[in-house]
Amino acid sequence: MSKKLAKIRKLVKSKFEENDWKYHILPVVNYTKKLARIYKVDREVAELAALLHDIGRADIKHDEDHHIVGIPIAEKILRNFDYPEKVIEEIKHVIASHRTSKGPKPRSIIAKIVANADAMAHFDILPVFFWWRHGRENFEETVEWVKNKTEKDWQKKLTLPGAKKMVEKKYKAIKLLLNSLRYHEKEK
Ligand SMILES: [Fe+2]
Ligand SMILES: [Fe+2]
Repeated sequence: MSKKLAKIRKLVKSKFEENDWKYHILPVVNYTKKLARIYKVDREVAELAALLHDIGRADIKHDEDHHIVGIPIAEKILRNFDYPEKVIEEIKHVIASHRTSKGPKPRSIIAKIVANADAMAHFDILPVFFWWRHGRENFEETVEWVKNKTEKDWQKKLTLPGAKKMVEKKYKAIKLLLNSLRYHEKEK
């Protein structure tokens, strides 16, 4: 890892709440690195993009538009570390396009990788979702929320075959476990 990348990693880590870093940003970074190897793209740029993809959300007030407010924040960080214009433009596109519900579609392979890794990370943290949603709605609404999120990730965000293959077993396991919650209601 380059010195610049190590410093940015430390900086991004300091901006996120500990569990958000541990259970979302770090898994996205790790899946991005795996996909970067498979799809043979620049690993440093891919890792930087993954680290910065949710930077607009580090400030909790900007959850809804974090794909927009994150752009100038990332741009400033990258300029401070003297990254070339081409890298800055690539990462700005990654941030703008990493959601499926909002913003442009990912065009570059690195943007596709980060959007896929963003979804893959969700398949590892099923219990964390329940903990994060606790108190927002009742239990069954949370179950529905997790089901919808899982389905959206699987159907819409996972566009790379290599990514889909890596999480297929977990997707099926999550569906099996969540659907089991209603199993006894159907038993006669
Ligand atoms: Fe995001
Ligand atoms: Fe994310």
